[in-house]
Amino acid sequence: MWDVLEEFYDSVPRPGSRVEDHGELVLFVQAGDGHPYYARPRFPGGRPTVDDVVKMRARQRELGVPEALEWVHETTPDLYDVAVAAGLEVLRAPLLVLDPEKLPEPHPHVRVLDTRPAEVSVVAELAFSSPGTSPGEVGVAERDAALAEAVPTSTRHRHAVADLPGEGVLAVGTAQRAGDVVEIAGIGTLPAARRRGLGGAVTAELARDALDRGAKLVFLSAGSPEIARVYERVGFRHVGTACIASPVVG
Ligand SMILES: CC(C)(COP(=O)(O)OP(=O)(O)OC[C@H]1O[C@@H](n2cnc3c(N)ncnc32)[C@H](O)[C@@H]1OP(=O)(O)O)[C@@H](O)C(=O)NCCC(=O)NCCS
Repeated sequence: MWDVLEEFYDSVPRPGSRVEDHGELVLFVQAGDGHPYYARPRFPGGRPTVDDVVKMRARQRELGVPEALEWVHETTPDLYDVAVAAGLEVLRAPLLVLDPEKLPEPHPHVRVLDTRPAEVSVVAELAFSSPGTSPGEVGVAERDAALAEAVPTSTRHRHAVADLPGEGVLAVGTAQRAGDVVEIAGIGTLPAARRRGLGGAVTAELARDALDRGAKLVFLSAGSPEIARVYERVGFRHVGTACIASPVVG
C-alpha cells in the first residue's frame, strides 16, 4: 500500500504543475491558478539529506513559492529528523484509508458533482477560516454574502455538497484521483452547522462515489487526531502519518 500511495502522491500534482527534479527531491510548481504545490522525495525511493532540503528551500524562495515539503513517514522515516535539521517544522497528520464495508448508509441530502459550484469554494474557505472541529457563529448569512462575489471555477475533481432543504450548502469536500487511487480533501462544514454529521456524510459520499467509479484505494489525511475521529466514524482507519513541513516561524 505504501508504494501505491507514493506513486499517487508523485503523479497527482503533475497535470497541474511544472516538475523540477533536484536529485533526491522533486518540486511541483503550480502552473496557472490553484493550489501552490510542494516538494516531495523522488519516486521511487528518494532519500533526501539535510543538504538536499536546504538547497530545495533556496530554490523555492528563488521561485517565490512556499517552502513546503511533504512525505509519508512510513515510506521515508529518516526525513523527519532531516527536515527539522534543515530548519523546518513538521505537522504529523494522521493518514487514514477506507474500509469499504464500514461506510454508513447514504445521507439523503449529500450530492456528488463533477462541477465545482461557487458554494464549494465559499463554504470551504469559511470552514477553513475556523480550524478545528468546534462549532462557531459563521453560517449561512456569511456564506450568502461571500457567494454574491464568487464565480464557479473549472475542476478536474469530484466535489460533494451537503445541501439541506431551506438551508442550502452547509458542508463540502473534494476527491482527486490518479489511477485507481482517490484522495479525499478539503472537507469543511460552516462553523454554525458543525456536529450534525455533515462533515462525515460528505466524506462518506465522496468515498462511495470513488468506489462506484472503480477506485481500489480511498484515503485521506486529517489535520489532527480530533479531526481524524470524524473520518473514523464513517469507515476510515488510521494507518500511518502524512508529514507536512514548513519553515519554523519566528
Ligand atoms: C472537521 C469538520 C469538517 C467536521 O465537520 P462536522 O460537520 O462538524 O463533522 P461531523 O458532524 O460529521 O462530526 C463532528 C462531531 O460531531 C459529532 N456528531 C455527528 N453527528 C452528530 C449529531 N447528529 N449530533 C451531535 N453530534 C454529532 C460527531 O460524532 C463528531 O464528534 P467527535 O468530534 O467527538 O468525534 C469541521 O469541523 C471543519 O470544517 N473544520 C475546519 C476545516 C477542517 O479542518 N477540515 C478538515 C481538514 S483535514
